[in-house]
Amino acid sequence: MTHSVLFIPGDGIGPEVMAQARRVVERINETRGAGFALTEAQMGLDAWKATGLPLSDETIVAAKAADAVLFGAVGGDEEIPRKLRRERGLLRLRREMGLYANLRPVKAHDALLDSTSLKERVARGVDLMIVRELSSGVYFGEPRGIETLPNGKRRAVDTQLYTEEEIERVARDAFHLARTRRGMVASVAKSNVMETGRLWRDVVTALHAAEFPDVALRHVLSDNFAMQIIRDPRQFDVAVMDNLFGDLLSDASAMISGSLGMLPSASLGTADSNGRRPALYEPVHGSAPDIAGKGIANPIAAILSVAMMLRHSFAMEADAALIEKAVAEALEGGARTADLYVQGGVQPLTTAGMGDAILARMEALGA
Ligand code: IPM
Ligand code: MN
Repeated sequence: MTHSVLFIPGDGIGPEVMAQARRVVERINETRGAGFALTEAQMGLDAWKATGLPLSDETIVAAKAADAVLFGAVGGDEEIPRKLRRERGLLRLRREMGLYANLRPVKAHDALLDSTSLKERVARGVDLMIVRELSSGVYFGEPRGIETLPNGKRRAVDTQLYTEEEIERVARDAFHLARTRRGMVASVAKSNVMETGRLWRDVVTALHAAEFPDVALRHVLSDNFAMQIIRDPRQFDVAVMDNLFGDLLSDASAMISGSLGMLPSASLGTADSNGRRPALYEPVHGSAPDIAGKGIANPIAAILSVAMMLRHSFAMEADAALIEKAVAEALEGGARTADLYVQGGVQPLTTAGMGDAILARMEALGA
């Protein structure tokens, strides 16, 4: 059976890290006979040059048809007119694919404890799964826009909006994930101030009582979560939150792992009648225009996104675990890209050099 995997390398360091992710997919294809059919589509600067739009309908159609999408990054300061805002293109792609659950795992690797900005005793052993709602909330709510008032001054409006169904479906994913982990969910919202926060808390409480009494549920205010994640991140297992809070708090949590260059993600939609969920896998780090084209970006987030793809789209848990082990062993063996470099450490590797180190460990592990 063949599975279609669509690569969208995108902008900035996207193409560089995706080239290494692609080597890993190709290796799994060869050694495991995984039967992945790989195709590629454009988005961002290249797409704009070719079609006049940063995200063409063709790319959206291809993404919807694929069994899984591996996405690099979009964004940068190049010549694309600002009004074509590429970031909104990514939001549109997520929305059109119906990707509402964004899984952002944060792990502290023992080998990287000297790269984290937290104290070693705080970061050691952290294994947190942030589940971010991805296709609603203030990034999509209407009305939105900037208008000029009669006095000539401008006024901007964004709308935070959630329906019960939108909260319930993402919370259900969080509870299911917790069952495969340490059995704890923290539901994060500003339920003391925001109406959407109140509804969030009510819906999660009701779902918990009705379907997941075996999972330990805790409600945490978003501001308090921001503090707790720095004070004692090990207290959390799965944390579910809305689009905006998930965006902010996953970036902050990334530092526990040593670098934003370490964080993969999976974005999942509703299963069709064959049980297939629309899925897109992407590193959390974004396009990093300041280091693009230099060959020094960390490909680990992209490679760990491949592992997430094998786990969540293709039920290849053993192969996913093997890739994660290969990454851990490469780090233990001293492989570091510049973002992980600490004063006095070994010379940092290039993007391809880190890819080589991980592929060598995969081979040693039998893949
Ligand atoms: C992310 C990014 C995106 C977001 C941007 C680039 C649209 O920050 O994936 O976290 O806000 O979701
Ligand atoms: Mn972000």
